[in-house]
Amino acid sequence: MPIDPTATSITEVVQKTFEGAEDERVKELFIRLVQHLHDFTREVRLTGEEWFKAVDFLERVGKTCTPTRQEYVLLSDILGVSVLVDLIHRPGGGSVTDSTLLGPFYVEGRPKAENGSDISGEVTGTPMFFNGRVLDSDGIPVAGARVDTWHSDGEGSYDVQMQDRLHGEPAMRALLTTDHDGRFWFRSVSPRYYPVPDDGPCGEILRAANRSPMRPEHLHFWLHAEGFEPLITMLVRGDDPYVERDAVFGVRRSLVVDFVRHPAGETAPDGTRVDEPFQTVERTFVLARKER
Ligand code: BEZ
Ligand code: FE
Repeated sequence: MPIDPTATSITEVVQKTFEGAEDERVKELFIRLVQHLHDFTREVRLTGEEWFKAVDFLERVGKTCTPTRQEYVLLSDILGVSVLVDLIHRPGGGSVTDSTLLGPFYVEGRPKAENGSDISGEVTGTPMFFNGRVLDSDGIPVAGARVDTWHSDGEGSYDVQMQDRLHGEPAMRALLTTDHDGRFWFRSVSPRYYPVPDDGPCGEILRAANRSPMRPEHLHFWLHAEGFEPLITMLVRGDDPYVERDAVFGVRRSLVVDFVRHPAGETAPDGTRVDEPFQTVERTFVLARKER
């Protein structure tokens, strides 16, 4: 191991220490990571004070994480890395529905729901009726697909952000199953735009950059079906004020939909007369077959 490295030669010295890695991918990842980290450090001539600040920042990101708050995922989201990983592997633009980021509000153990049921829990808000269909890329219905859905309430809060009010009960989330015709449908409340959690270290970055923390109004979906690639996606309200400036870069034009407004007294898609204004949303999702 050479001693007396210089600000240039240190990179190769450190890279060489990864050459013994048995896993070729681990070797590649660390060698390239060291290259980029060192280049960055040289390029901006990082000071000791800035380095300590960065370490302190990362420590605080870690300490902010809880089972229902993933500040590291949020850091990756606001730096565009979560979406970049997705775009590299699922560039989209084809017949299959585009994917986008999962976000931190998906939780396991969500309740199963029958098609047509009201998944809003105890939450009040503008009624929303969602009708979905799942097809393969030849237009054939995918029966028995499992569809996870979750969204915020009409004030932009997820159930996990108001556990006291809901006594820990899930709301506005469910696991549905498509029928023989690939259809699934449910009633809930219409969501709203909301800020990503900005009371922690990631919020400091957003404020320092004068960036908006807002995400446009959206519904999340995670679809699984035997023989198909899972799809994590989201539908975004087209006339939302934040549709062009999502804080986490998750909006794809193909995922923008109309949340159609209906006056009180009209008949909802499930045949019931609704005595208050309500909204309807429809969407077909196309899944990619797994390659054998
Ligand atoms: C979400 O859509 O739930 C979300 C995604 C990324 C960061 C924060 C929230
Ligand atoms: Fe969300």
